[in-house]
Amino acid sequence: MPTKQGAARTTGTIKVALLHGPNLNLLGTRAPDIYGATTLNDIEAEMMQRAEARGAELRSAQSNFEGELVALIQLARNWADAIVINPGAYTHTSVAIRDAIEAVGLPTVEVHLSNIHAREEFRAVSLTAARCIGLISGFGPQSYYLGLDAALSHVEASRRSHGKAGKRQKRTQRR
Ligand code: DQA
Repeated sequence: MPTKQGAARTTGTIKVALLHGPNLNLLGTRAPDIYGATTLNDIEAEMMQRAEARGAELRSAQSNFEGELVALIQLARNWADAIVINPGAYTHTSVAIRDAIEAVGLPTVEVHLSNIHAREEFRAVSLTAARCIGLISGFGPQSYYLGLDAALSHVEASRRSHGKAGKRQKRTQRR
């Protein structure tokens, strides 16, 4: 059953959608001076381990197509509590991905291997980041791990405050 936008799950295993945009399937051989030698498989294996160690579930997907990334973001609404996304070059061009992140309403962390502010001018603009809870850029594969940590901590914190609000409401109802 799809969860309505804004109706966050407040209990149970935290589920994270890890989404990679175009050309990130080539990591390891693609411009290693910029993106390093770590492959996407390596990053995903580390992300899986880290998610498991935190008691969370991670599902990942990579696509070279903008519409498919939009569809993956929309699908995440049905099962995930948060999204970690590297939109790749679509970061700088995609109103559709920005709108999907906004429409779905899941807490989303944008990550980049390279520091997008220290490269060509056109990369310094992220259309998507404004609809994310935050952006981590420039730490190589660590950007992903920090992004996962940020997403999980965000969901845990909102669940805690939701729990407290619920208890407060019950107390006032009893009075
Ligand atoms: C990237 C930065 C983008 O500018 C570029 O188009 C990518 C990778 C990064 O992870 O540093 O494909 O998102």
